Amino acid sequence: MEQRRALIAGNWKMNGVSADGLSLAEGLAACARRASDLPSDAAAEIPPDIAMALPCDVLVCPPFTLIDRVAKAVAGTRIAVGGQDCHAKVSGAHTGDISAEMLKDIGCGYVIVGHSERRADHGETDAVVKAKAEAGLRAGLVAIICVGETEAERDAGQTEAVVARQVSGSFAAGGTPETVVIAYEPVWAIGTGRTASPEEAQAVHARIRAELVGLIGADAAGKMRILYGGSVKPSNAAELLRQPDIDGALVGGASLKVEDFWGIVRATE
Ligand code: PGA
Repeated sequence: MEQRRALIAGNWKMNGVSADGLSLAEGLAACARRASDLPSDAAAEIPPDIAMALPCDVLVCPPFTLIDRVAKAVAGTRIAVGGQDCHAKVSGAHTGDISAEMLKDIGCGYVIVGHSERRADHGETDAVVKAKAEAGLRAGLVAIICVGETEAERDAGQTEAVVARQVSGSFAAGGTPETVVIAYEPVWAIGTGRTASPEEAQAVHARIRAELVGLIGADAAGKMRILYGGSVKPSNAAELLRQPDIDGALVGGASLKVEDFWGIVRATE
């Protein structure tokens, strides 16, 4: 873990209109400024050594409608902003879709691809997810590629096989530790209050890293961050993050409250 800086990413999903979304963003910005000992009105670029005072990298992924304003609300802090999905193409006749380039244009540094809710609700296959991840890289975004087994797959003893297949099928060609993050999210743990035990999660993370060794080599695989997601809260974050191959968290429900999300950020200290 010494060579991997933790990343705590908030996935707001389809939550937030102007009032609550912006107050959440402003609350997080205030926490980030406090953590960095910056005056609350500090809007200028902060020097990297002060940014390092944050215990980890911090990312929020609001719904598309709020990204622009959230990016402005957290400007001057080291909180990064990302999209929850993107289309694989740069532009064109794709009504309702958003390209990775559009996300980059409004201040995003990251894009989540292949979340299990996208795979389930929109029938996204590994091939689709791979194309979206590659679109993220093309646009200069870090792609967070999500994988995870269903409860039936876990009960059938297929967890590691399913997850390994998703990682190799969804991985962006040319992906590096600087441009790709993997998120392991067991589907049965998302939004249910149930989490994989730290040991269960660690076993799958280790299997993912072994799969990455085959894809990008041992050195790069050792540097790539693998996040855990699924009912992460301030009360369970620290023991999950203590596992050697868990390098951060992708947080849904608990990312909608300033105290809860910042509590998870603090758990990386
Ligand atoms: P949850 O969601 O934290 O609400 O379980 C995690 C996710 O889907 O990214």
